[in-house]
Amino acid sequence: MGRATKVVLAYSGGVDTTVCITYLKQEWGVQDVITLAADLGQGDELEPIRAKALKSGALESLVVDAKESFVREYAFPAIQANALYENRYPLSTALARPLIAKLLVEAAEKYGADAIAHGCTGKGNDQVRFDVSIGALNPKIKILAPAREWKMSREETIAYGERHGLSFPVKKSSPYSLDRNLLGMAIEAGPLEDPWVEPPEDVFQMTKSLVDAPNEPEYVEITFEGGIPVALNGNAIDPVQLILQLNQIVGRHGIGRIDMIENRLVGIKSREIYETPALLVLIHAHRDLESLTLTRDVTQYKRGLEETYSQLIYNGLWYSPLKAALDGFIQETQKQVSGTVRLKLFKGNANIVGRKSENSIYSHDLATYGAEDTFDHKAAEGFIYVWGLPTRLWSDKNR
Ligand code: ARG
Repeated sequence: MGRATKVVLAYSGGVDTTVCITYLKQEWGVQDVITLAADLGQGDELEPIRAKALKSGALESLVVDAKESFVREYAFPAIQANALYENRYPLSTALARPLIAKLLVEAAEKYGADAIAHGCTGKGNDQVRFDVSIGALNPKIKILAPAREWKMSREETIAYGERHGLSFPVKKSSPYSLDRNLLGMAIEAGPLEDPWVEPPEDVFQMTKSLVDAPNEPEYVEITFEGGIPVALNGNAIDPVQLILQLNQIVGRHGIGRIDMIENRLVGIKSREIYETPALLVLIHAHRDLESLTLTRDVTQYKRGLEETYSQLIYNGLWYSPLKAALDGFIQETQKQVSGTVRLKLFKGNANIVGRKSENSIYSHDLATYGAEDTFDHKAAEGFIYVWGLPTRLWSDKNR
């Protein structure tokens, strides 16, 4: 008896997940492997990947275009939450995992599989995100992670595959470990493992270097409705196109690069380079629009929850009850967050230079220092008497 009979395997077309097909069948006695590759805008051609799985022994090779769902159901809620892990990383990779997990579970249920497999190693966050998300969506399905157990180096993995009749085109091998989708690029390993080493210019694919960025600023206007971006420069645009176009516009000004030391859930510190041009600018603009449209207490309370929300996403708890509860709060706050934010893009900076909204609760007549001022200055005195009372009482005794 093997570990499972029929398995749905998360498939990327890379060495590890291709070897997983053979390994599951040869070493773990799996009869049928069904692969699933999700198109999240990683830029790979999906048809060759589909064919490769079949050639490598998969019974069935599924390819799912999930770009629209990725943006609408995963990226947009994260933007509404202004989600930045450790205040910097907009979770471009982390957001993809719960969606892939959902596709895997749906396929497993449809094909009557008794297990789901993925190619994650035991050192990263992604294994946690897959395992926890799959368990949340269907606690009965077994999870297999061959690469967490097989203890083979890269070379050994390739040799193992070749012994079993797989062939791997000798690509110009990159020293980096890359993860790419519509929302961004995550780049690690190779020379970047030394936190003191500056990332070489050739690691970047979505953003121009500042040296090559235009010498003239460019303006872009982003319109939100209910906290969701719906138009660029006044033109309504569908979610996937919005991300693609904004990546282009923003990326050519060298905006969206992040170089950080990050705390993984498994306790390891890792040095990560990210390129997430559209996502960063959208969060930046969205947060500004909230400042214009939400009350002080809601704004400030929400800022506190955003940290927790980001950690939940990073730590694989997308389908958790706390996440669902926070979503309830966040969605309630977003009803008023409609309007337009104007940004000036120049040499790596996206500065917000204007914002407007029909729901704006900014009052010019209250804020102005001009003659139109309607604020009751006299009222401030009583307010301050009461506001400062506890401090004066304390001071009397303890001064
Ligand atoms: N550290 C990031 C995360 O946990 C990205 C990891 C992506 N993988 C990569 N090969 N760079 O979300």
